[in-house]
Amino acid sequence: MHTPTSIILKPPTFNTPRLVLEELAEADAPSYAKHFVDYEIIRHLTHHVPWPYPPNGVLEYIRTSVVPEQGHDRWVWGIRLKENPEEVIGAVDLWRKGRPENRGFWLGRKFWGKGYMTEAVWPVMDFAFNTAGFRKLVFSNAVGNDRSARIKEKTGARRISQIASKYVDPALTESEVWELTKEEWLSRNTPAR
Ligand SMILES: CC(C)(COP(=O)(O)OP(=O)(O)OC[C@H]1O[C@@H](n2cnc3c(N)ncnc32)[C@H](O)[C@@H]1OP(=O)(O)O)[C@@H](O)C(=O)NCCC(=O)NCCS
Repeated sequence: MHTPTSIILKPPTFNTPRLVLEELAEADAPSYAKHFVDYEIIRHLTHHVPWPYPPNGVLEYIRTSVVPEQGHDRWVWGIRLKENPEEVIGAVDLWRKGRPENRGFWLGRKFWGKGYMTEAVWPVMDFAFNTAGFRKLVFSNAVGNDRSARIKEKTGARRISQIASKYVDPALTESEVWELTKEEWLSRNTPAR
């Protein structure tokens, strides 16, 4: 939770070739829920995410966990297609206090495999290093979540360790942890498509 004195740096809106990333807000709850409440997505997330997912859980999450923290060392964007910016099809979450990672993301299943998440994380990493003052980003994913791992590879991160972890899917028991420094980022600063 933020303190009343923390400086607010609101999540900027990003336009990429195919996407708009805009600060996630309560009004996004219905489309977020439509795409997010899917075991194929949620099973890859930390075991702190409830499953079965509660009714109204998304609205509650946005209202109590996202909106009060937006811009206070945490930034959560809803991913939208340019042709339909009213509908959130996924999200990217960036936070300063590593646990150990600093980022999470998900995308509705019917949008997988088109390069959208690689496109979405690009301006978020740029924001982290060039605006929010991160010197290093740490990422993680379940061992076996190859799509997620591939995004880290494509954006220049290095795999540094493997640790025991718990996910919603009890069959996933290990995380791989990745790192990307600002210097590494700046030295390869062109979108990988
Ligand atoms: C992880 C996730 C966000 C990927 O989104 P996406 O838009 O499909 O990702 P992209 O298309 O940008 O990149 C995926 C990469 O994985 C590759 N890929 C696709 N299917 C794959 C598979 N079965 N095994 C390995 N790699 C695969 C793609 O080919 C692509 O790499 P390429 O560009 O070199 O071809 C999405 O699958 C998702 O929401 N998963 C569930 C939630 C989740 O895992 N979140 C992350 C937790 S760490």
